[in-house]
Parts: sequence; structure tokens; C-alpha cells
Amino acid sequence: MTDRTAPAAHPIAAPFAARWSPRSYEDRAVPDAALAQVLEAARWASSCFNDQPWNFILARKGREEDGYAKLFSCLSQNNQGWAGRAPVLMLGVARTAFAHNGNPNRHAAYDLGQATANLAAQAATLGLQAHQMAGFDAAKAREAFAIPEGFDPLVMLTLGYPGAAAALPEALATREAAPRARKGISEFTHLGAWGAAGSPA
Ligand SMILES: Cc1cc2nc3c(=O)[nH]c(=O)nc-3n(C[C@H](O)[C@H](O)[C@H](O)COP(=O)(O)O)c2cc1C
Repeated sequence: MTDRTAPAAHPIAAPFAARWSPRSYEDRAVPDAALAQVLEAARWASSCFNDQPWNFILARKGREEDGYAKLFSCLSQNNQGWAGRAPVLMLGVARTAFAHNGNPNRHAAYDLGQATANLAAQAATLGLQAHQMAGFDAAKAREAFAIPEGFDPLVMLTLGYPGAAAALPEALATREAAPRARKGISEFTHLGAWGAAGSPA
């Protein structure tokens, strides 16, 4: 398989360099213990007021078949073009009000994102890869899983062992092998003042 390690300009911790978003997956189940590990990593994310507003619906091919089919049906046509190769599908859902006082939690999505980033980094450490997706029908997911008001379906994920790009349709295989690119540090770092673009080193 092509090396997808991030060509980082400064040394970064192994899971961050190893994480990427595949579209091709091996036809191989994820061991239960590994799934527990990625969820455990999500569990230890920080969150506003330690509210832990994240929820994940998880369905495995051959195990939670009905849930897997329902999750798959919520994906956009583009994502359906590849996501069915993954042995695990997930839906990330944020509780939008704080548990301790019922007030709106402006950071619920942020916290779900942090938990999901932890999950993805832990997955990469285990040789797995997650691929997050905004391309899904949130209203359909709410209905399919009877997700109550006060909970926001925000992201879907594939999870599994990354597979060969060549197994994908040609257009997707090309994207899978394209160089990984990022903005430079100075394009998002403002040193001391808004607009004072710079990099500390
Ligand atoms: C919130 C979010 C939504 C995304 N939605 C999609 C999506 O619907 N379909 C898709 O193929 N990739 C999606 N991606 C993956 C991004 O395109 C990918 O993370 C980005 O191109 C960087 O590539 P990398 O994750 O391999 O570093 C999404 C990523 C995030 C974080």
C-alpha cells in the first residue's frame, strides 16, 4: 500500500503522522478489543464541564447487520461509492444541552470532534484508520435510529484496516494516492494579534 504518513514539516507524535482517511479497506473484521481501545481513547477526550456530550452508534458488518445497513443508507451517494468496504460504520451524535443544568452547550460539536479525533488517532496507532464524513443525511439518521431532540447527528465514520487503492474505481484510486497537503503553520497562526501571520520557528 502507498505510504500515507504525513510529510510533516516538524516532528509530530506517531499517531498524528500515521492517521489518514482511506476509502479502501481490507475485507477483515476489527477485533472487539481494538474497537474497545478506540472507544476508550474517545472516552478520555477533554470536554467543556467534563460533560462528555459525545455518543456513537457503531455497527459491524456481519454483527449489527441491520444497524450497518441503516447507517449505510444515510450516507451520500458519493460516500456510498466506497464506504461499504469498511467493516465498521459509525455515527457521531452530540448532546446539545449540558447534563448538569440543561443549558445549551455551545461546545458540544467541538467536544464530539475532540473525542472523534482521539478515536482516529488511537485507530491509527493500531493499524486501523477512520474516515470521517459530513456527507450523510442527518434527518434520515435521526429517523432511522429514533434519535431524540436534543441530540445532533454530526458526523459519520468508516473504520477498518486500510486496503489497496487499486481495489477502488479509478477516480477514487487516484484520489487515494494523491499527495497529502496542508496549509503552512503561518497560514493559521496569528502571533499576538489577528492577522499577524507567523510561525514560532
Ligand atoms: C468533519 C469531516 C467531514 C468529512 N466529510 C467527508 C465526506 O463526506 N466524504 C469524504 O470522502 N471525506 C470526508 N472527510 C475527509 C476529509 O476530506 C479528509 O480528512 C481531508 O481531505 C484530509 O485528509 P486526511 O484525513 O487523509 O488527512 C471529512 C473529514 C471531516 C473531519
